[in-house]
Amino acid sequence: MSVGAPEQHNPVPRHVAIIMDGNGRWAEQRHRPRLFGHKAGVDSVREIVETAREIGIEVLTLYAFSTENWGRPTFEVSGLMTLLKSYLQSELRTMVRNDVRLHCLGDQDRLPEDVRAVLRQVIAETSSCRGMTLNLALSYGGRCELVGAVRELARKCQQGLLDWNTLAEAEISGHLFTAGQPDPDLLIRTGGEHRLSNFLLWQASYAELYFTEIRWPDFRKQQFLDAIQTFLLRQRRFGQTGAQVTGE
Ligand code: IPE
Ligand code: IPE
Ligand code: MG
Repeated sequence: MSVGAPEQHNPVPRHVAIIMDGNGRWAEQRHRPRLFGHKAGVDSVREIVETAREIGIEVLTLYAFSTENWGRPTFEVSGLMTLLKSYLQSELRTMVRNDVRLHCLGDQDRLPEDVRAVLRQVIAETSSCRGMTLNLALSYGGRCELVGAVRELARKCQQGLLDWNTLAEAEISGHLFTAGQPDPDLLIRTGGEHRLSNFLLWQASYAELYFTEIRWPDFRKQQFLDAIQTFLLRQRRFGQTGAQVTGE
């Protein structure tokens, strides 16, 4: 480390999760319909997925549609579903070539059948890819996910497959959509809001949070690398003192 340079505390994050917010305002500012912003947002998705793969991130989670987003006007919801389908169709070859595996977080049953069919196809055709996992959070809500996990655990206890006296954090983690994956190290939210909006409530318990005013369509490779750079300089203490962490 050179004198005066800020100290790097962390390696590149294993798991980065992003709340891709601000598409609508980006479009409104340009006097264009909200869907114009969502379309521009797809280009950011492509660039961020590619960059994440390049820098060696293991898991990238993108919050694309929340359980609450079902309450938006029908026109916007169906426009988003159409965009999602065409994104998946157009990206399949690139994902396979870049060794990126698609995984879905959320209640897929609520998605239109044509979107589900494409999702199934992309998940199947990328299932042996190991370079990076791309988690798309679709019709995803953190509370809904936890309810699902609790129900499944209760069922297993009732059937005698698990003993509720010994239930621990690992069992909860193991019954979430992210089972088997590392927890997010870095959680980014674009668009200027400072909230989680029901995203990865359990998994993000020790994630480093990074909020930026930049709206998602303007969040590209350089902005992503800036967020990663900020992360590298953060000291993660996990409840310990700074001296304990640095061993000084
Ligand atoms: C995020 O952008 C994309 C989705 C939630 C699908 P928004 O559509 O929420 O954009 P703003 O927050 O209205 O600007
Ligand atoms: C969060 O953004 C969900 C996604 C980015 C998919 P929202 O725009 O839906 O969040 P709120 O409503 O401002 O909390
Ligand atoms: Mg928003």
